[in-house]
Amino acid sequence: MVSNEDPKLRPALSGAGTATSPADPTPEEEDQMMRRRRFIQAGIGVSLVLTVGGLSALSVTGGLRPISKMTPDREPPADGDELVLAAEQGTVISPGDIAVDSGMIMAYPRDPASQVVKSGTVDNLILIARFDPANLSANTQPQAADGIVAYSGLCPHLGCTVSIWDAANGWFHCPCHHAEFDPRDDAKVVSGPSPRPLPALPLKLSGGSLLVAGSFLTPVGAG
Ligand code: FES
Repeated sequence: MVSNEDPKLRPALSGAGTATSPADPTPEEEDQMMRRRRFIQAGIGVSLVLTVGGLSALSVTGGLRPISKMTPDREPPADGDELVLAAEQGTVISPGDIAVDSGMIMAYPRDPASQVVKSGTVDNLILIARFDPANLSANTQPQAADGIVAYSGLCPHLGCTVSIWDAANGWFHCPCHHAEFDPRDDAKVVSGPSPRPLPALPLKLSGGSLLVAGSFLTPVGAG
């Protein structure tokens, strides 16, 4: 049985600015490294919370969620939205915060005009990771921004939160029934019972900022 105690499933702590750092980093490089570490740690914190509380708080949402009124914080991601850390919703994610092969970050979209974080529904939970662009599949490259990819955080199997980073393979892992998804290749299912890939969310860079470039490309949630 796989658990997040398994070393191969622990989120990657290395690579957060350490892999290519020179022996004596400048103060600016040290600042960047510290910021990246904070991002990775924030992502891990959310992952562990969601793994433990997933079934009661955020999981199995497909088919069980009550009908509720649309409010600004429940609007789906839209073109031009910023991305903020799920664990620190005042912290906007910028490209420099995400090192290549550094693991998974959980995020929500934020409307830049109203500053509303769209965290009122788990449907808007987003998984972000960064890879060498050359390692992305041809299908994935058009929706990526300089190697950064984004997908829905809800498992298409039964709607659990995909909350674990499989560091050994660089895959997203669903703790409920162990579906795994390859974020380098359109989040295709590489193992487990999910009937389809995680929905992709297109990204873009604008003026050095990381922004959403459209809607989820396929329906979010179970089924
Ligand atoms: S809900 Fe994700 S594998 Fe079943």
